[in-house]
Amino acid sequence: MATIIRTTVLLCLLQFILPSLAKQNRTLTGYTSDTVPKVSLNSTQNEPNYTAPYFPLLGFKQYPNNPILGPNKKASWESAYLYNPASIVIDNKVWLLYRAQNESLVSSIGLAWSTDGFNFTRYTKPVVQPSEPYETKGTEDPRVVRINGTFYMTYTGYDGTLAKLCMATSTDLVNWTKYGPILPNITDVNYRWDLPINAYTAREGWSKSGAIIMEKINGLYQMQFGDNWLYSANSTDLIHWNYTRNDLPFAAKLNVWEQALMESAAPPVKTRDGKWLKIYNGVGLGPGGYVTGSYNTGQMLIDMQDAPRGPPVARVETPLLQPLTAEETKGQVDNVVFSEGLVQFRGQWLMYFGQGDQYLGVATAPLQP
Ligand SMILES: *[C@@H]1O[C@H](CO)[C@@H](O)[C@H](O)[C@H]1NC(C)=O
Ligand SMILES: *[C@@H]1O[C@H](CO)[C@@H](O)[C@H](O)[C@H]1NC(C)=O
Ligand SMILES: *[C@@H]1O[C@H](CO)[C@@H](O)[C@H](O)[C@H]1NC(C)=O
Ligand SMILES: *[C@@H]1O[C@H](CO)[C@@H](O)[C@H](O)[C@H]1NC(C)=O
Ligand SMILES: *[C@@H]1O[C@H](CO)[C@@H](O)[C@H](O)[C@H]1NC(C)=O
Ligand SMILES: *[C@@H]1O[C@H](CO)[C@@H](O)[C@H](O)[C@H]1NC(C)=O
Ligand SMILES: *[C@@H]1O[C@H](CO)[C@@H](O)[C@H](O)[C@H]1NC(C)=O
Ligand SMILES: *[C@@H]1O[C@H](CO)[C@@H](O)[C@H](O)[C@H]1NC(C)=O
Ligand SMILES: *[C@@H]1O[C@H](CO)[C@@H](O)[C@H](O)[C@H]1NC(C)=O
Ligand SMILES: *[C@@H]1O[C@H](CO)[C@@H](O)[C@H](O)[C@H]1NC(C)=O
Repeated sequence: MATIIRTTVLLCLLQFILPSLAKQNRTLTGYTSDTVPKVSLNSTQNEPNYTAPYFPLLGFKQYPNNPILGPNKKASWESAYLYNPASIVIDNKVWLLYRAQNESLVSSIGLAWSTDGFNFTRYTKPVVQPSEPYETKGTEDPRVVRINGTFYMTYTGYDGTLAKLCMATSTDLVNWTKYGPILPNITDVNYRWDLPINAYTAREGWSKSGAIIMEKINGLYQMQFGDNWLYSANSTDLIHWNYTRNDLPFAAKLNVWEQALMESAAPPVKTRDGKWLKIYNGVGLGPGGYVTGSYNTGQMLIDMQDAPRGPPVARVETPLLQPLTAEETKGQVDNVVFSEGLVQFRGQWLMYFGQGDQYLGVATAPLQP
């Protein structure tokens, strides 16, 4: 009897009490390395047996051992919060470029790699840091594609007043060349939570969240960007981008959970029939059972051949991912899942995301037959 009680107490401790204690201010230092496995123009991308998806790609579930990465108190640049990762499969490893904040909440971009998709080793130094006047308060929220062997990273440069979508390139994921803001003179809008009706005010010079289509279609690369509505821009060289000021948005706000804001997630993935599956993040106004202001991740099907500037061909009505866990519902910002990476690896889909603007998690989904 005593043994059973002792065992029960022990199990209870292991199952409930210890994990919840461990979750308080978890730092998750994990594995770090002063050197990075060599990536070059010759490196392979994706696994040889990569299977393109079809729309919709469903069945995402939060990995039960999330978070998989968190702040590291031993390195000041990533000591406060760590979240919002881009992901890509190179040389049979998953690579993450993630946003990390120091104690002054200034963001840098860090690099980590893994051979199983869950257990990551991080590089001790940030790979992109504030260095320019337009990014004094941070280099944030990377998204990455690789085209002709070069990595193209869109990220947000923030100077405390304006967010500006910036470009950087690299061939090894470590050494990045900055090209500065790529969409000057943009006007985005800001949802006005303080007004009783659906209202927006212009946000001059504000741009964010660029997700690039990784193939040239009819001579042009395309990108969907924006931090309230999705807009489109195109380019011939991925460095210089054209857009039309005050253009119509790429996609109307349709679902109840995206009425306040829509923002690109990972770069779109080509489907078996040559369209593109685009994941995105949305913010709702309250109705429909979604917490007011919560960030959820959804999915749309877009057609770059016949509708390169929108609208989407189809959309999934309910989110793929919703804030559910303690790290997601209570954080630096409450009720946030924010995805920026989607890869296929070792027989499943892995979607990497920020949890409550504080930790880094992953959700898995099965491959489609
Ligand atoms: C977690 O960190 C915050 C901010 O540093 C602090 O206020 C809080 O007391 C900490 N919680 C625990 C359980 O240590
Ligand atoms: C790529 O492979 C070629 C042929 O094997 C080799 O000559 C070249 O040095 C490699 N380039 C890099 C950047 O590793
Ligand atoms: C955070 O980083 C910024 C920019 O590098 C630096 O100015 C600031 O002192 C850092 N804060 C801390 C607490 O290290
Ligand atoms: C995680 O990765 C590290 C570094 O590669 C390795 O030493 C460790 O054994 C791995 N742990 C698990 C559980 O796979
Ligand atoms: C970084 O990349 C730039 C541009 O490609 C190159 O000129 C420079 O030599 C590289 N630096 C290192 C340390 O590899
Ligand atoms: C922004 O627009 C103004 C007015 O049209 C123009 O004078 C300025 O050169 C533009 N700046 C850029 C960076 O395109
Ligand atoms: C942008 O549009 C202008 C005018 O149509 C064109 O001359 C230019 O080549 C375009 N630039 C890019 C990078 O596509
Ligand atoms: C990549 O290579 C293709 C095929 O050679 C070419 O059409 C395209 O312009 C290249 N893209 C970039 C950004 O260099
Ligand atoms: C490329 O962008 C320009 C500027 O916004 C626009 O006028 C044009 O229609 C776009 N072309 C395509 C094919 O998206
Ligand atoms: C693809 O190959 C990897 C090993 O390279 C394996 O782990 C994975 O299960 C394979 N995927 C499928 C769908 O067979």
